[in-house]
Amino acid sequence: MSATSAESRAMQRARESSAMQRARELGAAVLGTTSPNPAVGAVVLAADGTPVGEGATRPPGGPHAEVVALAQAGERARGGTAVVTLEPCAHTGRTGPCADALIAAGIARVVVAVPEPTELAGGGADRLRAAGIEVELGVGQAEAEHGALAPWLTGVREHRPFVVWKVAATLDGRVAADDGTSRWITGEVARAAVHRLRATCDAVVVGSGTALTDDPQLTVRDADGRPSGHQPLRVVVDRRGRVPATARLHDDAAPTLVSRAGTPEALLAELFDRDVRRVLLEGGPTLAAAFLRAGLVDEAVVHLAPSLLGAGASLVGDLGISTMARALSFSIVDLLPLGGDVQIRLRPTRHTGGDQHADGGS
Ligand SMILES: NC(=O)c1ccc[n+]([C@@H]2O[C@H](COP(=O)([O-])OP(=O)(O)OC[C@H]3O[C@@H](n4cnc5c(N)ncnc54)[C@H](OP(=O)(O)O)[C@@H]3O)[C@@H](O)[C@H]2O)c1
Repeated sequence: MSATSAESRAMQRARESSAMQRARELGAAVLGTTSPNPAVGAVVLAADGTPVGEGATRPPGGPHAEVVALAQAGERARGGTAVVTLEPCAHTGRTGPCADALIAAGIARVVVAVPEPTELAGGGADRLRAAGIEVELGVGQAEAEHGALAPWLTGVREHRPFVVWKVAATLDGRVAADDGTSRWITGEVARAAVHRLRATCDAVVVGSGTALTDDPQLTVRDADGRPSGHQPLRVVVDRRGRVPATARLHDDAAPTLVSRAGTPEALLAELFDRDVRRVLLEGGPTLAAAFLRAGLVDEAVVHLAPSLLGAGASLVGDLGISTMARALSFSIVDLLPLGGDVQIRLRPTRHTGGDQHADGGS
């Protein structure tokens, strides 16, 4: 390869990598609106490498990301490159095959992060190659798998929704004071972040204890308290039917499900059947402990306030762990200051913490 062609290849790689980053952002921006379909992002680069089209999966029944990006690019897509977070599908569902749309648009190269894992929609790359299009798979795959595609991939691989556990606590890990008061542990900026997080989910879940103590509304609201954007399904797990019909989560601001599911597994199965792919578990400590013991928390979002209570409910109930070596451990994904509070996003590194389940590692 000559110096000039190596240089232009490096420039092409850099452009495609920043287009892939943009495609991941586009997918993340529609999380919570696409289920049961994946939140895919796509960018179309013209033949000279200029971005000319962007798209993300529209709600079910609407066009896929590639089709939206191609429509924006129009004729400028001819001879260009499509950069997509998930392999374009080759099957006709509610919409036509994306592979065919890329062929028809005259795309010359397709760069994909995650190869299609289902047989039903698979074969897109083969169909593109058969039409003479260059296809590269696995570009930025890990980032895409841990990003907006994670809920859908969890659904494909484990037939259950992805679970994000969110909790707000004081420095000493208290979620409520001794007298039961819990509003507001964190400040306005952190609370606004919770509303944005809710909007990325298909369902928000609490236990009956939280519903009875806090009477939360569990809707997505703006700074003035008005309902805004996508409203996830509100779910209360109330096996003994203790939550009254007058509870705020029964108002008409969003749909509500009262579940009698006996276990987290049964609850997730019930939600999966309703096309829920991303769940926000908002507590409380007893229900969160049940999920953690079952190894059913995929991500934790902890809001820590710089305050101390010294007494009061702890952020998680009994996990059945009696010795340090069995501690449930997490790795930190990122840290974010939120006004006067801090957000820590974590992923479990060892799922099941209970003594009877632990794998014996230290
Ligand atoms: N700061 C925060 O982020 C935050 C968030 C939430 C709550 N809180 C605080 O937490 C306190 C409430 O704590 P909590 O532990 O009582 O609330 P919880 O975890 O919301 O509710 C516990 C109840 O959930 C029901 N449940 C349903 N499925 C369950 C399962 N698989 N395993 C275990 N329980 C299940 C049980 O009642 P049934 O058997 O009757 O179904 C149980 O008594 C309040 O003070 C609240 O303010 C704080």
